[in-house]
Amino acid sequence: MDLTIIVPTYNEGPNVVELLARIGAVMGERDFEVLFVDDSTDDTPAIVRAAAAASPFPVRMLHRAEPIAGLGGAVVEGFRHAQSRWCLVMDGDLQHPPETIPALLERAEAGGVDVVIASRYASGGTSKGLADATRTAVSRASTLLTKAMFPRKLHGCSDPMTGFFLIDREGFDVEALRPRGFKILLEVLARRQLRTAEVPFNFAERHAGASKASFRQGVRFLTQLTMLRFGRMSAFALVGGFGAIVNLVIMWGLIRLGVEYVVAAVIASELTIIGNFLLLEYLVFADMRSESGRMRHRFVQSFLFNNLEAVIRIPIMWMLVESTNIPSVLAAALTLVAAFVVRFVFHALVVYAPKRTTVVAVTPDRPAVGVRAEP
Ligand code: GDD
Ligand code: MN
Repeated sequence: MDLTIIVPTYNEGPNVVELLARIGAVMGERDFEVLFVDDSTDDTPAIVRAAAAASPFPVRMLHRAEPIAGLGGAVVEGFRHAQSRWCLVMDGDLQHPPETIPALLERAEAGGVDVVIASRYASGGTSKGLADATRTAVSRASTLLTKAMFPRKLHGCSDPMTGFFLIDREGFDVEALRPRGFKILLEVLARRQLRTAEVPFNFAERHAGASKASFRQGVRFLTQLTMLRFGRMSAFALVGGFGAIVNLVIMWGLIRLGVEYVVAAVIASELTIIGNFLLLEYLVFADMRSESGRMRHRFVQSFLFNNLEAVIRIPIMWMLVESTNIPSVLAAALTLVAAFVVRFVFHALVVYAPKRTTVVAVTPDRPAVGVRAEP
């Protein structure tokens, strides 16, 4: 089997030489290439280049000057540029021991699978290398939640959050992936029923450097989960529902401070509209921002739309109540639902529509910086 080993790296310089040495040691006579997809801001690219020149096997690097979608985006870019049908994805910090690779390959070669997952939670695996008790608890809880949301697709997969797996590129559609944040395997498994197998592994301590996991990645993960399970519209609805509550809380607070209730309602609404816009920007439509023009322009559209919507909705509700027998609360609910659908359609198709003018500004497909060692 020919193989591309995809390693996403973000400031992993001190780990590169050790990683390549250990990969080389376990791969023996096998045919393979290593493809670093690098978003580093430090000297990692230079270290990779030097290591590639000295390497007995092919090592390539794709350095992204304008990283899109972080770790997940880097892996997708790796799938696009891989030269082999089978791709092995692993971290660059040696928390995924190269010594596990042969077991993954053997399982794939036995046949009948699209993806072989290295699992910390399969019997025989460990997660000792997770930073602390909090990370362990978060990892366990999010694994449970994720499995509960995709009971069928993740059946038989004990570690959907692992970043260590071997996959057949013909088993899934790279272009259908919408990577957000850290969990690329989940993105693949949740979209299509794949035949999976597991191999246990020991999640090791980081060799050098610092982890890039953060609270922000956690929020991204929850968004990813919501979008995969319920689609963009429900993420949009969640933001709207959250906004409605915040709106009332602000209004209540202002009234307690002595502000007149109509004024309080107006201030609360405007603040909520702004807050909701930011949530749409960074969560619901995060993957569409780079192609949909200027943020200032999107804000103006969204802001005007929401204000206009309020101005139009109230008289419509009044007309409904006056001209039919519909109770006022039901009329309000009907107009709110209609407004929600219109608002969603407007944001998805207008505010975040890909803008023709910015296509020029998008970086042209840069060729991979190929550093290939001569045999
Ligand atoms: N190209 C690129 N761009 N690589 C990145 C980025 C990025 O924005 N962010 C992180 N990486 C790389 C790191 O350099 C490392 O090689 C790998 O992705 C994992 O990042 P860590 O910072 O080491 O994260 P971790 O140890 O918390 O996460 C690992 O454990 C998780 C399970 O708990 C990863 O293996 C995850 O994939 C895994 O899900
Ligand atoms: Mn790590």
